[in-house]
Amino acid sequence: MSDRQSIRPFLTYLENTGDLVRVAKQVDPHFELSAFLSAADAGPSLLFESVVGSKLRVAGNLLNGRARIAAALGIEIAEILPRIHQAIRAPVKPVRVDNGVVQQVVEREAPLSGLPVPTFFERESRPYITAGVIVARDPETGRGNASFARFAILNGDTAMVGIAPNHHLALFSRRAAAVGKPLEIAVIIGAHPAIQLAACLYLGVGDDEMECAGSLLGNPVGVVPAKTVDLMVPADAELVLEGTIDANQPIEEGFVSEYHGMYENYGSGYLARFSALTRREDAIFQVIEPGYHREHIYLGALPIAASLFNTLAAVIPNVREVAVTEAGAGRTDVVIQIAGAGPGQPRRAMFAVFAAVSIVKRVTVVDADIDPWDPVAVEWARTNRMKLERDLLLIPQAGTDRSEPMEQGGLVTKVGFDATAKANDRVEGVDRALPPLAYREAAKKWFTENLPRDQRKWLKS
Ligand SMILES: Cc1cc2nc3c(=O)[nH]c(=O)nc-3n(C[C@H](O)[C@H](O)[C@H](O)COP(=O)(O)O)c2cc1C
Repeated sequence: MSDRQSIRPFLTYLENTGDLVRVAKQVDPHFELSAFLSAADAGPSLLFESVVGSKLRVAGNLLNGRARIAAALGIEIAEILPRIHQAIRAPVKPVRVDNGVVQQVVEREAPLSGLPVPTFFERESRPYITAGVIVARDPETGRGNASFARFAILNGDTAMVGIAPNHHLALFSRRAAAVGKPLEIAVIIGAHPAIQLAACLYLGVGDDEMECAGSLLGNPVGVVPAKTVDLMVPADAELVLEGTIDANQPIEEGFVSEYHGMYENYGSGYLARFSALTRREDAIFQVIEPGYHREHIYLGALPIAASLFNTLAAVIPNVREVAVTEAGAGRTDVVIQIAGAGPGQPRRAMFAVFAAVSIVKRVTVVDADIDPWDPVAVEWARTNRMKLERDLLLIPQAGTDRSEPMEQGGLVTKVGFDATAKANDRVEGVDRALPPLAYREAAKKWFTENLPRDQRKWLKS
């Protein structure tokens, strides 16, 4: 039993680096807390010390970019993709531990009451739990799954869960309902960031994200048996809600925010009933500001990028990096970096990405000298390395997700940009007009030696 696999070491790190602001003022979970998180979007993490109607503290805006996610994993930004990729390739099974801080307090009566659950946006009608990693098992095979989905609170022990129909959790819920049973779930809040990232991976049905989390952590996830359902839960998390999902009981949702930043009206979700809350004595309730906010974007973006890299590496051995951009809300817009792309490779990469993740709408392929995470560099490549009549691929009537803003009848037009430089496009060549390398390096060295670090943030690495 320890804090090693919790969010606490990361909170301490954020505090030590000046990236955590403690909000001492009492805030209202009805819109006020959400407004603080929205305002701090690209800024510090927030720890709300006092929330109206709850004894628990609230933490938010923890993983709002690549730098934070790298810090949470204890690695450099450039290592994020290879590390998650390695975790997909070499999963590590959880191990049972003797006891867990997550079960210091057990409440069976009205488990949802007393939680600081925020109402986020103007046209949403209910408070939402947004940072819950849901653990469940396939009723047919017994294999595990972990993924995020939102819960709209109905009363002290029931909620509506909103899951995209193609997600594995929705599939498991329907499989359980087909044999007349609800699906047992455990909702984990405030687990280690590695567990949260793993929950967003796109794996095969039956590939358990909790095993990738163990690999990402460098240690198996320590788990204990839940109190009222037959599932294992991470021992070091802040809080767990135990219960069931009944796909035979539709509950109308109304307007809900989506990653693209607008509202959707999906109709009905499924009924969730909760049988217990277990938590640390001083549990911190994590909140992720949904919609087009950076934590929601980047938590999705990096696991999707690593999942796509895994798919691409099997067919394009010279793929170097995959970015899932902030403009595409970490879901719909992908940039693939290929070193020395051979003829046909950019289109093959596009097809592989469109086939692997249906939510992706736009794919750009760039060369090794373009940083796929730098939107200006990617725009430069699109502007200067494409002959549009040759290098633009439009795929009308392609299948997409219900969340796609331009979707009609499940279809949308997808687009591919081959922004790689092609031999013979320019008689002058494609090399960049720059001073000789030795002079550039000498100039950089001078700035590095003569300016303090905070005055040379503009210096390119
Ligand atoms: C903060 C956050 C909230 C999310 N909320 C939802 C949600 O409400 N419904 C949903 O279907 N997917 C949601 N997702 C996306 C899924 O968790 C993600 O696509 C996951 O890979 C699905 O996994 P599965 O197919 O194994 O169930 C969310 C992702 C994040 C990062």
